[in-house]
Amino acid sequence: APIRLRDYRRPPWSVDTVELDVDLGIDTAEVTARLVLRRDAEQSQPLRLDGEGLELLAISLDGRALDANSYRHEDSVLEVDGAKDGSVLETRVRLKPAANTALEGLYLSGSRETGFLLTQCEAEGFRHITFFPDRPDVLARYTVTLRADRERFPVLLAGGNPNGAGELEHGRHWARFIDPHPKPSYLFALVAGRLKNIRRDYITADGRNVALVMWSEANVIDRCHYALDALERCMRWDEKAYGRNYDLDVFHVVATHDFNMGAMENKGLNIFNAKYLLADPDSSTDEEYRAVEAVVAHEYFHNWTGNRVTCRDWFQLSLKEGLTVFREQQFSADMNSPSLKRIEDVSLLRRAQFPEDAGPLAHPVRPAEYREINNFYTATVYEKGAELVRMLAGSLGPDGFRRGMDLYFERHDGQAATIEDFLSALGDANSVDLMPYLSWYGQAGTPRLHAHGEYDAARKEYTLTLSQHTRATPNQPEKTPLPIPVKLSLFDHSGNVLPLHTDGQTPETEKVVVVSKASQPIVFRHIDAPPVPSLLRGFSAPVLLEYGYAPAELALLLTHDPDGFNRWEAGQHLAFLAFDSLHAPTDNDACGAWCDALASLFHGRAIDDALLADLMTPPGEIEFADRQTEVDPAKIHAHRQELQRRLAAHIGIETLHARYHALNVGGDLKLDAGNQAKRQLKRRVLELLALVDADGAHALAAKQYESATGMTDRLAALGVLVRQRAPQAAKALAHFRERYADNPLALDKWFTVQAQVPGDAALASIRTLEIDPAFTLKNPNRARALFGTFASGNPSGFHRTDGEGYRLLTDRLAQLDALNPQIAARLATAFNGWQRLESVRREAARTALVALAQRGGLSRNLSEIIGNVLQH
Ligand code: ARG
Ligand code: ZN
Repeated sequence: APIRLRDYRRPPWSVDTVELDVDLGIDTAEVTARLVLRRDAEQSQPLRLDGEGLELLAISLDGRALDANSYRHEDSVLEVDGAKDGSVLETRVRLKPAANTALEGLYLSGSRETGFLLTQCEAEGFRHITFFPDRPDVLARYTVTLRADRERFPVLLAGGNPNGAGELEHGRHWARFIDPHPKPSYLFALVAGRLKNIRRDYITADGRNVALVMWSEANVIDRCHYALDALERCMRWDEKAYGRNYDLDVFHVVATHDFNMGAMENKGLNIFNAKYLLADPDSSTDEEYRAVEAVVAHEYFHNWTGNRVTCRDWFQLSLKEGLTVFREQQFSADMNSPSLKRIEDVSLLRRAQFPEDAGPLAHPVRPAEYREINNFYTATVYEKGAELVRMLAGSLGPDGFRRGMDLYFERHDGQAATIEDFLSALGDANSVDLMPYLSWYGQAGTPRLHAHGEYDAARKEYTLTLSQHTRATPNQPEKTPLPIPVKLSLFDHSGNVLPLHTDGQTPETEKVVVVSKASQPIVFRHIDAPPVPSLLRGFSAPVLLEYGYAPAELALLLTHDPDGFNRWEAGQHLAFLAFDSLHAPTDNDACGAWCDALASLFHGRAIDDALLADLMTPPGEIEFADRQTEVDPAKIHAHRQELQRRLAAHIGIETLHARYHALNVGGDLKLDAGNQAKRQLKRRVLELLALVDADGAHALAAKQYESATGMTDRLAALGVLVRQRAPQAAKALAHFRERYADNPLALDKWFTVQAQVPGDAALASIRTLEIDPAFTLKNPNRARALFGTFASGNPSGFHRTDGEGYRLLTDRLAQLDALNPQIAARLATAFNGWQRLESVRREAARTALVALAQRGGLSRNLSEIIGNVLQH
């Protein structure tokens, strides 16, 4: 049965202090836990602790060994008789780290001979380590003592401050860590093995000396410097922007190649997927550098939004994740370009979250129920959650939001809080009621904001009517109107922004209207001619805008809006119209308007190269599919290519060649924004050129591949060659394979790029790649590089009419599920939206899904996803 938000009860038993003694070994580890128990005076349930896959070796209560009839150990629960408030329970269990392929709890990263041990506890991994009330509202003080063979495990780390270390008999040693801050069990972590480090001293704004230490295996430690710099930057930023200081004497960060997600904010001991920690020009792209900076900041920011103030229960996950994503977005915008960052984040939202909201897996930012919490670390909880915080921050303004956050920390430091607590603190600090925003947290689905303008020439009035509607989602047929902040401006037909006169206001050029009813008119006075509205500026709310723009109006905004993000928005909207006009030509030549506007920006050279590259990129295939009901991914791919081909033809082969050469500066690799922008535009130009002058572009790409001084240029060139199946592709691939044989993160890209081959050729490519000796389903990054890319990043390759893509994926999901249910469930979300496929593919998808469901024996993770996808 599902777990429901409305069933929340305070913990009947909690834990004051935990003493963990861990004897580490590759095959087995023994964990002794001494828990000082606290009983809730108003509840009388017996003591029940969570535990999964633990072999119980010993158990005692208040110093007395328990006989077999005073406790019951069934499946995942340990029930103990006779515990009182203040009792001390001691258990000893045996674990099998090397046999743990689920990468949850204590597991081995790398080989038995050279690998190291580490833990992952969020959300419910701690119960795989010891018996415990494994829920985030049980906050305890941890003392952790690690013991292991010194030669095999020279480095022993746990969260908190170091508190002694020493030698033991038989070549063993020990190390102790005490965490002074009470924390939930999901923030526990330990690491043990042969690791190297780089370190730096840091003094917090409030005067604490902190040792910042990055750890990795010896061969990649040189690639941790960029992350260490990023850590220092984000620590300073949090001190300034939010007045938040770090609160331990050490901050350890560890990189692993075997990790189920991006990274984890364990108190004082962050653990990172190497993909988000290691960076060097030879193996990382510019985009990956930005991702490292963003994830380092995200995990660091959790120290306050997540750790100091944690979540009462897992339904509140977005309390820490949405808020922390938002904080990271602000930081990254400050470090880089705000408009480019906003473009990146909004396109991610549209690519990953809008489809979620529109399909069988739709759920509110605060879900009402779940079976497997790991399935709810979604784009909705993270990215839409961040958009909700952005709306709140926007409505309070920078100073008001800071006041609200200060009060939130003041009130809830050391507590496990709720979304309501968050809204109350922000509201109370500013004497406003933010509770109407709570409905955003409880309602699934992307609202549609419909806008309609009427111009009254006689009265010189422009009336904009804004109405909202949210379609039904699974288990949520009825929707209520939400408060939607719509930031808007009006432009005249020469592209000048107009002063806005509304009742009783002094005129401004930009205004926020909060639409909270089903439909709301707003009147602008002293308007001399029908204006062009620029709506939802900065993407002021996560909604789908419906406004019947004429192509010329969008072209005007694309050329004249002073804000880079809004220009991009206009361009995206125009690209949709252009796409539609390809197969239903109308009088309004949207494609012509799109090409004209972009060509003039391209020639004008007045805007930043990176922004230009973004403007010249139409929405992705998934976004086009999202607007259709009988989705044919092959057709969408072909039409999107045709759209780009027309743009390329309109700009002209000669002009593209000339710009390519102008951008191809050569020389030493530089990572500054200007050079990153050049590389990004160069890549776009090369991709466009490949559509109108394939031979010429392939020759350039082959040359670029050979002479590239960094991964950005090298991978861009390889991508063009491979996706276009150019004659030069094989040689480049062989070279890449050889060159990066010992670099798993770079090798992942070799798999990814080949899994992106569009159309029917993809399947053969996947079949060849999966028998490559370097392929393994056991490594999440590798499995994602191949099957994640194929199933979720290559619609025209995956959605074959013969259903072979679906059969291959479901077969592998069944295999993967036996190894790592979290990853299997994640990859299975590729079937989201199958009901909107055209009928041949739809039937093929249904058949494959039903066959998978009928295999039986699936994990709770995978069966929840498959069940939901089939049911709704
Ligand atoms: N809290 C981590 C982060 O976003 C992610 C943990 C995800 N855990 C999981 N089991 N899916 O920073
Ligand atoms: Zn997070």
